[in-house]
Amino acid sequence: MNLPLVIANWKMNIPYFDEKDPKEDFEWAMHWKHIQHWFFKFHSTIKDYQWNRGVVDEYLCTPFGIAPPLTSVHTCEENNGSDEVSPGSYINVSIGFQDVSSHRSGARTGEMSASMLAGYLLRDDYSFCIIGHSERREFQKETDEVISEKLKRLLETDIVPVVCIGETLKDFEKGLTKEILKNQIDVIFNSLESDKNIILAYEPVWAIGSGKPAVPTDVNEIHKFIKDTVQSCAKITDINVLYGGSVNAENSKSFFEQKYIDGALVGGASLDPVEFGKICINYIHQMETQE
Ligand code: PGA
Repeated sequence: MNLPLVIANWKMNIPYFDEKDPKEDFEWAMHWKHIQHWFFKFHSTIKDYQWNRGVVDEYLCTPFGIAPPLTSVHTCEENNGSDEVSPGSYINVSIGFQDVSSHRSGARTGEMSASMLAGYLLRDDYSFCIIGHSERREFQKETDEVISEKLKRLLETDIVPVVCIGETLKDFEKGLTKEILKNQIDVIFNSLESDKNIILAYEPVWAIGSGKPAVPTDVNEIHKFIKDTVQSCAKITDINVLYGGSVNAENSKSFFEQKYIDGALVGGASLDPVEFGKICINYIHQMETQE
């Protein structure tokens, strides 16, 4: 499996199905058909694009990932690359997690350790786990120190960490973006040495779910800064940096065109399988243009 570089973060939602508002229909959350429908539509979108270009069976393993709610991980794994969903071809995406405990075990009611998540997977594929998302920082009061521990726990397993960093609107308006990012990186990576894959996601808090994405050329410059900063404070060979914050099918192309933007973390738009499929197609297109 390839490293996931365009990731769908479903958060505490389920994908769109017909015209229903997923947030109002939790009964469907674990419903097989609901998830199957997402995979079917997503696969058809990618396959139609490939078919129109005369490419067949090229994307056996993709650089795409989905982080569903934990209760839907198995249903996603079972539908992923299934012949029933996508007859005659096997498009695989990575299935990952939205969070992990900073502890290995113990009295932590409601938490899941990294090794529990690793053991939970049905298939032996590349998996990943998002940590440090701004919603967890805001609502669960997670600090960079806690996120640093979560990173270490994940590195004890084969689950690839996807570490989110980003500044608030107040910091952005004060021109403190780089200072905030440097502090976050210094604490989270804290002289870390690792030859394992780690993915970073730059998500300006003000761009998340706001419909107001950051300017792609500005993000490009920030990503260069992030890569340089990680290199100077930690011994990590190579790091991919994704952008997240109101990415959709229309604007994704202008992000993927930037030299230092390696992919995207997509929230709201990923609940619609056709929309997410189009974002992935823009990514494929950009990769092919670069070759
Ligand atoms: P959004 O969310 O795409 O809905 O802005 C991104 C995220 O929270 O990862």
